Amino acid sequence: MIKVTNLKKRFNDLEVLKGIDFEIKDREVLSIIGPSGSGKSTLIRCLNFLETPEEGIIEIGSAKLDATKPTRKEIQQLRDQTAMVFQNYNLYRNKTALQNVTESLIVVKKIPKKEAEELGMELLKQVGLVEKRDNYPATLSGGQQQRVSIARALAQRPHAILFDEPTSSLDPELVSEVLQVIKSIAELDTTMIIVTHEMEFAREVSDHVIFMADGYIVEEGTSSEFFNNPQKDRTKQFLRNYYGEKQNRG
Ligand SMILES: Nc1ncnc2c1ncn2[C@@H]1O[C@H](COP(=O)(O)OP(=O)(O)O)[C@@H](O)[C@H]1O
Ligand SMILES: [Mg+2]
Repeated sequence: MIKVTNLKKRFNDLEVLKGIDFEIKDREVLSIIGPSGSGKSTLIRCLNFLETPEEGIIEIGSAKLDATKPTRKEIQQLRDQTAMVFQNYNLYRNKTALQNVTESLIVVKKIPKKEAEELGMELLKQVGLVEKRDNYPATLSGGQQQRVSIARALAQRPHAILFDEPTSSLDPELVSEVLQVIKSIAELDTTMIIVTHEMEFAREVSDHVIFMADGYIVEEGTSSEFFNNPQKDRTKQFLRNYYGEKQNRG
């Protein structure tokens, strides 16, 4: 379960999250959509304390903390519940695909190298990159690098995976291979929160959708409620713009 209650975050004078509440069950996929600057990344980064919220209760799996007075231990426990997939992959440039996946298993979890490599190979297989095990990131396409970073996230066996616009840095022709991998992981009942601008993907993969604007959740619902029957003008406008632009581009 992931439950967020009254989450607030500001950068100096700028209130970015003005009291966010949501809840998803285990094995559900939540997509967060909304205009640029609406606080989506800040929200997802507050969930693992990459950003420090001022207020709010965050519960993920077995961890729970009150952001007004978190202890170091609570922050660590919260961080242990999730793995993050970033827009820019954030791979170690001086490590191979396999080493990127196994690094934290060996260094943090102290799993013997051979065992970590076996698990790493299984995960590379899952993202379709077994034959790239010895490649360094510079010799992989963006789509392949992002798939390595997804395998690395899976290696942590987190309660949930957090994706922050996983395909936004990719050339258009590389987007679908990454979305396909994310879908295949969703089908294995992985709990996920995905910030994305890919509406058709969000529609297909999500159980639940949140639309954010100006630091608030403007609208939320099941995927079909949200996309087939949006209630708020702001949401309708956003979806109209998105699909309108798509159409104009052909
Ligand atoms: N580290 C930061 N310092 C100051 N302002 C920030 C910082 N990170 C984000 N912001 C601001 O917070 C707002 C929300 O940003 P962000 O969460 O990245 O939005 P989104 O991911 O929806 O595009 C923006 O106005 C952005 O400029
Ligand atoms: Mg963002």
